[in-house]
Amino acid sequence: MKYILRIVFVVVALLIIFIVFLYSGIYNISAMVPHNKITLKVIHTLTDNSIEHHAKGITAPNLSDSSLIKTGFSHYNEMCVGCHGAPGISRDETGLGLYPKPPDLSKSAKEIPASELFWITKNGIKMTGMPAFGKTHKDDKIWAIVAFMEKLPGMTNEQYKAYVKTVKEMDED
Ligand code: HEC
Repeated sequence: MKYILRIVFVVVALLIIFIVFLYSGIYNISAMVPHNKITLKVIHTLTDNSIEHHAKGITAPNLSDSSLIKTGFSHYNEMCVGCHGAPGISRDETGLGLYPKPPDLSKSAKEIPASELFWITKNGIKMTGMPAFGKTHKDDKIWAIVAFMEKLPGMTNEQYKAYVKTVKEMDED
Protein backbone atom coordinates (compact mmCIF):
# COMPACT_ATOMS: atom_id res chain seq x y z
CA MET A 1 0.00 0.00 0.00
CA LYS A 2 2.82 2.37 0.99
CA TYR A 3 4.52 1.56 -2.32
CA ILE A 4 1.40 2.49 -4.35
CA LEU A 5 1.00 5.74 -2.36
CA ARG A 6 4.60 6.66 -3.17
CA ILE A 7 3.98 6.14 -6.92
CA VAL A 8 0.80 8.25 -6.76
CA PHE A 9 2.74 10.99 -4.94
CA VAL A 10 5.50 11.01 -7.61
CA VAL A 11 2.97 11.08 -10.48
CA VAL A 12 1.02 13.97 -8.88
CA ALA A 13 4.27 15.89 -8.18
CA LEU A 14 5.42 15.44 -11.81
CA LEU A 15 2.00 16.58 -13.05
CA ILE A 16 2.17 19.72 -10.86
CA ILE A 17 5.72 20.49 -12.12
CA PHE A 18 4.49 20.05 -15.71
CA ILE A 19 1.48 22.36 -15.19
CA VAL A 20 3.68 25.02 -13.52
CA PHE A 21 6.11 24.73 -16.47
CA LEU A 22 3.22 25.12 -19.00
CA TYR A 23 1.85 28.26 -17.37
CA SER A 24 5.13 29.88 -16.26
CA GLY A 25 6.23 30.92 -19.75
CA ILE A 26 9.83 29.87 -19.15
CA TYR A 27 9.86 27.62 -22.24
CA ASN A 28 11.40 29.62 -25.11
CA ILE A 29 9.06 29.23 -28.13
CA SER A 30 11.43 31.26 -30.37
CA ALA A 31 12.11 29.74 -33.80
CA MET A 32 15.73 30.89 -33.32
CA VAL A 33 16.33 28.36 -30.54
CA PRO A 34 16.66 24.75 -31.76
CA HIS A 35 15.01 21.81 -29.96
CA ASN A 36 17.19 19.65 -27.73
CA LYS A 37 18.32 16.24 -29.01
CA ILE A 38 15.62 14.21 -27.22
CA THR A 39 12.77 16.44 -28.47
CA LEU A 40 14.22 16.28 -32.00
CA LYS A 41 14.42 12.49 -31.87
CA VAL A 42 10.79 12.26 -30.67
CA ILE A 43 9.52 14.66 -33.38
CA HIS A 44 11.48 12.93 -36.19
CA THR A 45 10.35 9.46 -35.12
CA LEU A 46 6.72 10.60 -34.90
CA THR A 47 6.86 12.43 -38.25
CA ASP A 48 8.65 9.68 -40.20
CA ASN A 49 6.38 6.91 -38.94
CA SER A 50 3.20 8.96 -39.41
CA ILE A 51 4.08 9.76 -43.03
CA GLU A 52 5.09 6.16 -43.79
CA HIS A 53 1.87 4.82 -42.22
CA HIS A 54 -0.48 7.26 -43.95
CA ALA A 55 1.18 6.99 -47.38
CA LYS A 56 0.74 3.19 -47.40
CA GLY A 57 -1.56 2.09 -50.22
CA ILE A 58 -1.07 5.24 -52.34
CA THR A 59 -0.01 4.19 -55.83
CA ALA A 60 1.70 6.65 -58.13
CA PRO A 61 0.42 7.11 -61.68
CA ASN A 62 2.93 7.27 -64.56
CA LEU A 63 5.13 10.24 -63.64
CA SER A 64 7.45 10.24 -66.66
CA ASP A 65 5.25 12.31 -69.00
CA SER A 66 7.12 15.51 -69.93
CA SER A 67 4.03 17.78 -69.98
CA LEU A 68 3.13 16.54 -66.48
CA ILE A 69 6.65 17.41 -65.29
CA LYS A 70 6.37 20.91 -66.84
CA THR A 71 3.02 21.48 -65.10
CA GLY A 72 4.68 20.34 -61.86
CA PHE A 73 7.55 22.75 -62.43
CA SER A 74 5.14 25.74 -62.81
CA HIS A 75 3.53 24.92 -59.47
CA TYR A 76 6.87 24.22 -57.78
CA ASN A 77 8.40 27.46 -59.06
CA GLU A 78 5.36 29.42 -57.86
CA MET A 79 4.59 27.77 -54.50
CA CYS A 80 7.58 25.82 -53.17
CA VAL A 81 10.79 27.50 -54.29
CA GLY A 82 10.61 30.31 -51.68
CA CYS A 83 10.84 27.86 -48.80
CA HIS A 84 12.71 24.93 -50.36
CA GLY A 85 14.91 26.67 -52.93
CA ALA A 86 15.92 25.00 -56.21
CA PRO A 87 19.13 24.46 -58.20
CA GLY A 88 20.70 27.94 -58.43
CA ILE A 89 17.97 29.55 -56.27
CA SER A 90 18.31 30.01 -52.52
CA ARG A 91 15.42 30.04 -50.06
CA ASP A 92 13.73 33.46 -49.56
CA GLU A 93 13.35 35.31 -46.23
CA THR A 94 10.47 33.05 -45.15
CA GLY A 95 12.35 29.88 -45.99
CA LEU A 96 15.51 31.10 -44.27
CA GLY A 97 13.66 32.08 -41.09
CA LEU A 98 11.63 28.90 -40.62
CA TYR A 99 12.34 26.32 -37.94
CA PRO A 100 12.47 23.46 -38.76
CA LYS A 101 14.39 24.49 -41.87
CA PRO A 102 12.60 23.46 -45.11
CA PRO A 103 14.78 20.66 -46.56
CA ASP A 104 16.65 21.06 -49.84
CA LEU A 105 14.44 18.86 -52.02
CA SER A 106 17.10 18.57 -54.70
CA LYS A 107 18.91 16.45 -52.11
CA SER A 108 16.18 14.83 -50.03
CA ALA A 109 13.55 14.00 -52.70
CA LYS A 110 15.53 11.04 -54.01
CA GLU A 111 15.31 9.29 -50.65
CA ILE A 112 11.52 9.71 -50.36
CA PRO A 113 9.11 7.37 -52.24
CA ALA A 114 6.64 9.08 -54.64
CA SER A 115 3.70 8.01 -52.43
CA GLU A 116 5.21 9.90 -49.46
CA LEU A 117 6.11 12.98 -51.54
CA PHE A 118 2.44 13.01 -52.61
CA TRP A 119 1.09 12.56 -49.08
CA ILE A 120 3.34 15.28 -47.62
CA THR A 121 2.49 17.79 -50.38
CA LYS A 122 -1.23 17.07 -50.09
CA ASN A 123 -1.47 17.03 -46.27
CA GLY A 124 1.36 19.26 -45.07
CA ILE A 125 3.13 18.67 -41.75
CA LYS A 126 1.68 20.09 -38.51
CA MET A 127 3.67 22.71 -36.61
CA THR A 128 6.49 22.97 -39.15
CA GLY A 129 5.33 25.58 -41.67
CA MET A 130 4.91 22.91 -44.41
CA PRO A 131 1.45 23.79 -45.87
CA ALA A 132 -1.26 21.33 -47.01
CA PHE A 133 -1.70 21.89 -50.74
CA GLY A 134 -4.58 19.39 -50.82
CA LYS A 135 -6.86 22.19 -49.58
CA THR A 136 -6.37 24.12 -52.82
CA HIS A 137 -5.13 21.58 -55.38
CA LYS A 138 -6.64 18.45 -56.96
CA ASP A 139 -4.71 15.17 -56.79
CA ASP A 140 -3.62 15.35 -60.46
CA LYS A 141 -1.87 18.70 -59.83
CA ILE A 142 -0.15 17.29 -56.74
CA TRP A 143 1.06 14.27 -58.76
CA ALA A 144 2.45 16.72 -61.34
CA ILE A 145 4.45 18.43 -58.56
CA VAL A 146 5.68 14.99 -57.40
CA ALA A 147 6.73 14.19 -60.99
CA PHE A 148 8.80 17.39 -61.00
CA MET A 149 10.26 16.82 -57.51
CA GLU A 150 11.52 13.42 -58.67
CA LYS A 151 13.52 15.24 -61.37
CA LEU A 152 15.09 17.71 -58.89
CA PRO A 153 17.93 15.52 -57.53
CA GLY A 154 20.90 15.90 -59.84
CA MET A 155 19.33 18.81 -61.77
CA THR A 156 21.84 21.54 -62.70
CA ASN A 157 21.23 25.30 -62.35
CA GLU A 158 21.09 25.50 -66.17
CA GLN A 159 18.47 22.75 -66.42
CA TYR A 160 16.29 24.57 -63.86
CA LYS A 161 16.68 27.84 -65.80
CA ALA A 162 15.69 25.97 -68.99
CA TYR A 163 12.40 24.97 -67.32
CA VAL A 164 11.78 28.64 -66.39
CA LYS A 165 12.33 29.61 -70.04
CA THR A 166 10.17 26.82 -71.53
CA VAL A 167 7.25 27.52 -69.23
CA LYS A 168 7.49 31.30 -69.89
CA GLU A 169 7.37 30.61 -73.63
CA MET A 170 4.41 28.26 -73.16
CA ASP A 171 2.58 31.02 -71.22
CA GLU A 172 3.28 33.59 -73.95
CA ASP A 173 1.87 31.32 -76.72
C1 HEC B 1 6.14 28.17 -45.95
C2 HEC B 1 7.22 27.28 -46.25
C3 HEC B 1 6.99 26.07 -47.09
C4 HEC B 1 6.41 26.02 -48.33
C5 HEC B 1 5.80 27.18 -49.13
C6 HEC B 1 6.53 24.66 -48.77
N1 HEC B 1 7.16 23.90 -47.82
FE1 HEC B 1 7.58 21.90 -47.94
N2 HEC B 1 8.37 21.95 -46.06
C7 HEC B 1 8.48 23.07 -45.28
C8 HEC B 1 9.11 22.70 -44.03
C9 HEC B 1 9.41 23.64 -42.88
C10 HEC B 1 9.39 21.33 -44.09
C11 HEC B 1 10.08 20.48 -43.03
C12 HEC B 1 9.06 19.77 -42.19
C13 HEC B 1 9.72 18.87 -41.14
O1 HEC B 1 10.85 19.13 -40.72
O2 HEC B 1 9.07 17.89 -40.73
C14 HEC B 1 8.90 20.89 -45.39
C15 HEC B 1 8.99 19.57 -45.83
C16 HEC B 1 8.64 19.16 -47.10
C17 HEC B 1 8.83 17.82 -47.61
C18 HEC B 1 9.52 16.67 -46.86
C19 HEC B 1 10.98 16.71 -47.27
C20 HEC B 1 11.94 15.92 -46.44
O3 HEC B 1 13.14 15.91 -46.78
O4 HEC B 1 11.54 15.32 -45.42
C21 HEC B 1 8.36 17.80 -48.89
C22 HEC B 1 8.34 16.63 -49.85
C23 HEC B 1 7.85 19.13 -49.18
N3 HEC B 1 8.03 19.93 -48.06
C24 HEC B 1 7.29 19.50 -50.37
C25 HEC B 1 6.83 20.78 -50.64
C26 HEC B 1 6.22 21.15 -51.91
C27 HEC B 1 6.05 20.24 -53.10
C28 HEC B 1 5.86 22.47 -51.79
C29 HEC B 1 5.13 23.32 -52.79
C30 HEC B 1 3.96 22.76 -53.45
C31 HEC B 1 6.27 22.93 -50.47
N4 HEC B 1 6.85 21.86 -49.80
C32 HEC B 1 6.09 24.21 -49.99
C33 HEC B 1 8.07 24.35 -45.60
C34 HEC B 1 7.45 24.73 -46.77
